[in-house]
Amino acid sequence: MSPPRFQPPAPTPPDRELPLWQWLWQVYRNPILTWPRAVFEEPYVLRQAGRLSAHFLLDPALVKGVLLDHVEAFPKAPIMRRMIEFENGPNILTAEGEYWRMLRRTAAPGFQAKKIAAMGPVFVDAAQRRLQAWQARQGDAPIDLAKEMMFTTLDVIIETMLSGRDEVDTQRLGEAIATYIDTIGRVQPADVLNLPAWAPRPGKRRGTIAGNYIRAETLRIVQNRRARPVERPDLLNLMLDARDPESGHALTDQELVNTIGVFIGAGHETTALALTWALYLIHQHPSTEARLRAEIAEVCGDAPPRPDQADRLVFARQVIEEAMRLYPPVPNIPRIAAQDVTIGEAHIRTGDFVVIPVYAIHRHAKLWHDPWAFNPANFDPELAASRTRYAYLPFGAGPRICIGMGFAMLEAVLILASLIQARRFEIIDPARVEPQQTITLKPRDGIFARVREVARFAAAA
Ligand code: HEM
Repeated sequence: MSPPRFQPPAPTPPDRELPLWQWLWQVYRNPILTWPRAVFEEPYVLRQAGRLSAHFLLDPALVKGVLLDHVEAFPKAPIMRRMIEFENGPNILTAEGEYWRMLRRTAAPGFQAKKIAAMGPVFVDAAQRRLQAWQARQGDAPIDLAKEMMFTTLDVIIETMLSGRDEVDTQRLGEAIATYIDTIGRVQPADVLNLPAWAPRPGKRRGTIAGNYIRAETLRIVQNRRARPVERPDLLNLMLDARDPESGHALTDQELVNTIGVFIGAGHETTALALTWALYLIHQHPSTEARLRAEIAEVCGDAPPRPDQADRLVFARQVIEEAMRLYPPVPNIPRIAAQDVTIGEAHIRTGDFVVIPVYAIHRHAKLWHDPWAFNPANFDPELAASRTRYAYLPFGAGPRICIGMGFAMLEAVLILASLIQARRFEIIDPARVEPQQTITLKPRDGIFARVREVARFAAAA
């Protein structure tokens, strides 16, 4: 018997284009609400305002055209560079051409499966520390799952990239990262309209202060580690030892700070959101929760999950994949056309914006059966293998695919299994939750839940 259908609340796309001022306000407040219904139903949508053209590509063949077949013609959009470079020049996420290839070649060995597996215990320990923090709490006040998952993945980042918790003011760094993402990481109407740097951009000052702090801390840690090497299987050591296999180039301090900065920015909030949305969905769908608990019990027994068990947590992985379908942590992949290119019905001219709206592709009427419903069976291994590659893009695709994909999936599976094994979460007012697009897709006002110990819950039932 198939599990009952469950459609989590989601904003309804507008039936037609919004008037300009409403559109600009919504672009700042929550850009996915400006995507018209057509984006969720048609293979290709062209939007024009004056001389600006934005091509929304939904059809997997068009997406492949941009991310793979004509990748050199579609560099990262300036808006992404502004959010991510933070006036420090190109980095592995924003660079193009030979410089990008050098950075990617140099960093790639650090993300080999064997190296990531060696970091597995850090993921499990971070989850166990979070469980202990909940254990130590007095009373029954709700927690914000989004914040709690941020703390958990920040713990991982600090252990794997920043020399451990003894070296860093965790609280301050976490707040700086959150401020940065919430200010510089927002889509600003001034950028959409291509206005000059002096045009007002709300939050820019706060974001700049936060960005300077993150950068100064990273530089301090890089220099400390160079001066006093430590034996640890962490990403900082891997990047310090990394050499470009072609030229032998070792990353300079500036390149290391930029690279580690991107790993922090790209890796921490995204993974936290994948977990947050997964917990939100699981605890509104009892049959998923029950199946997940059964799998964890069978694979791990009563002991905390071990990294070598991750491959057997097949359903846990499916749940995370489905959560990232409905709520992709990176909801949009923007590019700009560096030359005139025609891909299928899209005639793209130099300077045009190209939008790969991952959130809409993942809920597209022509690509998914019952696209707005939560159904981890979408990722049953056989079904997933038969699906067109470019219909599911939480980590992007083509040569610019996320370098941290394996790291993030192992981290998410192990943390999810550890948390579900020991606790369940009663989501408070789930219908109130609104996915909001900044650079990532987060719950606009958090997701609040009461934490229940599993054993106690079972006894009370
Ligand atoms: C669930 C977690 C994650 C999601 C959903 C995610 C998503 C993405 C996406 C969509 C891209 C492609 C962007 C584009 O083409 O414009 C990307 C690139 C990237 N991600 Fe991730 N990411 C995650 C975790 C991580 C982690 C853990 C790290 C590092 C430790 C990381 C590092 C990077 C880097 C460096 C790039 C740029 C790669 C390049 O251009 O060569 N990400 N990520």
